[in-house]
Amino acid sequence: MAKPKRRYVCAACGSVSFRWQGQCADCGEWNTLSEETPATTFSTKHDLSSGGRPLAFEALDAKGQMPVRRSTGLPEFDRALGGGLVPGSAILMGGDPGIGKSTLLLQAAAKIAQSGGNVVYVSGEEATGQVRLRAERLGLAGAPVLLASATSVRDILTTLGGMDAPALVVIDSIQTMHSDMIEGAPGTVSQVRASAFELIRFAKEAGSALVLVGHVTKDGSIAGPRVLEHMVDVVMAFEGERSHQYRILRSIKNRFGPVDEIGVFAMAGAGLEEVGNPSALFLSGHEDAVPGSAVFPAMEGTRPVLVEIQALIVRLQSGATPRRAVVGWDSGRLAMLLAVLEARCGLNFSSAEVYLNVAGGYRLSDPAADLAVAAALVSALSDKPLPNGHVWFGEVSLAGEVRPVAHSGLRQREAAKLGFKAAVMASDNGQSVPDMRQHAVSHLRQIVDRVVGEE
Ligand code: TYD
Ligand code: MG
Repeated sequence: MAKPKRRYVCAACGSVSFRWQGQCADCGEWNTLSEETPATTFSTKHDLSSGGRPLAFEALDAKGQMPVRRSTGLPEFDRALGGGLVPGSAILMGGDPGIGKSTLLLQAAAKIAQSGGNVVYVSGEEATGQVRLRAERLGLAGAPVLLASATSVRDILTTLGGMDAPALVVIDSIQTMHSDMIEGAPGTVSQVRASAFELIRFAKEAGSALVLVGHVTKDGSIAGPRVLEHMVDVVMAFEGERSHQYRILRSIKNRFGPVDEIGVFAMAGAGLEEVGNPSALFLSGHEDAVPGSAVFPAMEGTRPVLVEIQALIVRLQSGATPRRAVVGWDSGRLAMLLAVLEARCGLNFSSAEVYLNVAGGYRLSDPAADLAVAAALVSALSDKPLPNGHVWFGEVSLAGEVRPVAHSGLRQREAAKLGFKAAVMASDNGQSVPDMRQHAVSHLRQIVDRVVGEE
């Protein structure tokens, strides 16, 4: 029999190579490769075409067999999941340490338990006393959650197998779990993979929803192998700046729903509070218009969120290289907009420092923000506030044209709901909405003329 080939697995991305290297060829991380013994060696003569059991095929149309989603009791969590927990599904939840993953899951576990569901919460990181303390702080100590502190997958599966199938099993976290089928310390690629595999298999068979908490590395991906992301049905990220109180729950992969829905929470004294109206949270709320501030109706999945964009321009006297700093937006996109404003509208930013900030620590990825950013920049440069009660949205081309964007109606309706009176947008983006005046623009020059020109 051929000697089993040595294989080396990268702890950061899970890629396999047959030669040891200091740097992983796939993800570029250093010192992450470690040797892994293959569990099985295949003989070259194996033949799988006989000796198996025949499959029973089923129709695609499975009326009456659709699993019923179960609410987590937290509407924002349900929204991010695409409508609640699907029985038998596995969810991987990643997030920075201390962002509130354990808090969120304890709150959801308690809600489901209070509504009569069987819920198991296994913590491999904290002692039961610590979890109980948190539950007390959250006012949930009375909820009939089955709590255990354990790290052995065998113990966990033996216990779960001997009871009524739980509606929800929370494993906090997968990196602390240990399977005795595989060698190696908890947290290694093979351990994480083997533990997750066994737990997911249980969830599928028993019809329980399974949530695995996963640690996140510096660059924001879930630590351990990427394969974990392929094994589960849903991958969620719990994000936010620890210094700000708001948190966003986002689904990155979802086999049962859309991936761009978000749930918004605020971390308060008694745990995570749901934020049903996130727009109010991200608007800074000053009454008088200030120069350099523009409101942008962003889209997060199917949901509009109003955010305030702030620009500050400082003229430099000396010939020093001016700074450009951006928080919450793409710096390359800012450089492009500045170039367009200079080349197409005759404005001069060359001797000025430019600072751009998205209020509330929010991160914008919607390209429709161009127009609002441009308006904030023009307003800051001319030191004149933008007209009161306006929102701005549209994409800007390199020629300075303002292009229409999707969801014009939703954006305007959200703005109207919050008391805004007018929307500035591309000329063929006009969808009329009650209580909203519409100002169509086709080129950035029109914005410059309006803001700078009005004396
Ligand atoms: P935690 O859920 O332990 O985070 P994770 O599991 O993602 O590591 O949350 C810890 C943080 O949340 C901690 O810094 C304190 C804060 N927190 C509150 O502000 N209020 C609360 O009621 C609770 C329980 C935690
Ligand atoms: Mg935790």
